[in-house]
Amino acid sequence: MRTIDWVDGAIELVDQTALPDEYRLIRVDTVDGLVEAVRRLAVRGAPALGIAGALGVALAVRGEPDPAAAAARLRAARPTAVNLARGVDEALKLLDDGFEAVLARALQIMADDVAACRAMGERGADLVRELTGRDKVRIMTICNTGGLATVERGTALGVIQTLHERGQLVEALALETRPLLQGARLTAWELGRMDAPYRLIADSAGPFLLARGHADAVLIGADRIAADGDTANKIGSYALALGARRAGVPFLVVAPETTVDLSTPTGSAIEIEERDPAEVLCARGVRLAPEGADALNPAFDVTPHDLVTAIVTERRVIRPGLGERL
Ligand code: MRU
Repeated sequence: MRTIDWVDGAIELVDQTALPDEYRLIRVDTVDGLVEAVRRLAVRGAPALGIAGALGVALAVRGEPDPAAAAARLRAARPTAVNLARGVDEALKLLDDGFEAVLARALQIMADDVAACRAMGERGADLVRELTGRDKVRIMTICNTGGLATVERGTALGVIQTLHERGQLVEALALETRPLLQGARLTAWELGRMDAPYRLIADSAGPFLLARGHADAVLIGADRIAADGDTANKIGSYALALGARRAGVPFLVVAPETTVDLSTPTGSAIEIEERDPAEVLCARGVRLAPEGADALNPAFDVTPHDLVTAIVTERRVIRPGLGERL
């Protein structure tokens, strides 16, 4: 499965809003179509957004009267994952060289993602073994950080996949990840396809289950890692980090180097996307709250670096909690 690809002159995406009920591919051949797909989370997850950004610039160069303005619209479609802006910026560097050069750069970013995820999987699985001292482990995770959030193989979920392939995974505990249920819909779907042992848990059960010893490590992805190691990721990650610290469980962030943003000094400078209150007030189109209720809907939170045991990238392991710098 390729979550995002360039096929016959257009972007082909797995429509993640339709999963797990339906595996549906959509073709996107305009920048405005891509902006819409990004906003409604048909394509989502930081690395996949980076590739969408770069491929979107190819669409802009080919079809837009003002490619730079169109690229700026795409860049601003979602603010928190730095990969989107970075993917756009990388491809834009080749704007003057024309469509073929921009497309080649975007395809290179896509190939780099596949290689990076493989490397993170191996390094992360080795580190889990080292930190837990266990041959067989139970891992808690949030949101979806699998192949659906990248191109083929995930970041945090890629590590879980590697552990499973090595015969070291006892169980993955996946948070359902309200309000949009990326855990219940997407991570469960991917774990099932891997034939990996897993159970879903309610988001609010995470810290308590850590306190009761149900997981040996917590693995999360990231949307943006500030220079000091503060990490923006799906809302609920911070609560898991607090619970993991209290329970003495290692808390690992697994993300490619493209998610590290050295121009953002600390987490307080990271813009957090606020999404439509309707996502909280409803679940998959069914209203939960009474008419007239309002909601606050931050899509991400920031885990302070001192709660992060280690950050695993395709190149290195950094331990911000021990004062190591990115
Ligand atoms: O709102 P989403 O679904 O795009 O949020 C995704 C996450 O928070 C992921 O954990 C993050 O992007 C890393 S994906 C490898």
